[in-house]
Amino acid sequence: MPTLAVYPGSFDPLTNGHVDIITRGARLFDRIVIAILVNPDKKPLFEMSERVDIAREVFKHLPNVEVDTFEGLLVDYVERRGAQVIVRGLRAVSDFEYEFQMALMNRRLHDTIETVFMMPAEQYTYISSRLIKEVFSLGGRVHGMVPDMVEERLRLKAATK
Ligand code: PNS
Repeated sequence: MPTLAVYPGSFDPLTNGHVDIITRGARLFDRIVIAILVNPDKKPLFEMSERVDIAREVFKHLPNVEVDTFEGLLVDYVERRGAQVIVRGLRAVSDFEYEFQMALMNRRLHDTIETVFMMPAEQYTYISSRLIKEVFSLGGRVHGMVPDMVEERLRLKAATK
C-alpha cells in the first residue's frame, strides 16, 4: 500500500526549514500532504489563501507533494485522508518536549497513526516562522531563510502597511 504522510503546521510563513523537511519527506513517502491548520483563534500574518499559494508554487516541481487545509483534530484529518504517518520536524532538544507530548496525545487518540520526526539540514535548525516574522518586522534580512516568494510577499506587506 502506498504510504501517505501528512505534514501539518501553521506555515505562517513557510520557511526553508519546512521546505527542507518536505523535500526529504517527498523522497521517503509515496505522497506527502502539507496540511495547513485553519486556526480561528490566531490572527496570521499570511492569509490562508496566501499560505496555500506559496506552498503550491514552491512545490510545483514535486508531483507527490500536495497542499491542503484542515480544521479540528489533526488525527481526524489524517484518518479522513487515509494517511498513515504524521511528519514533524525536530530542530533542537527544545522542540522535543512539545513534540513528544503531541505525538503521544495523537497516538492516544488514534493508535495506528505514526508520528515520524525528521531533522532539517543543520543550517535551518534555528529558523522558525515566529523568528522570521520578528526579524523581518524589525528590519532584519531573512534572505536564504525563506523561499524567495515569501521574502517578496513580506516586502509587499511591509510596503503596503
Ligand atoms: O506549525 P505548528 O503551529 O507548530 O503546528 C501545530 C499543529 C498544527 C501541528 C498542531 O497545533 C495541531 O495538530 N493542531 C490541530 C488540533 C489538534 O489536533 N490538537 C491536538 C494536538 S495533540
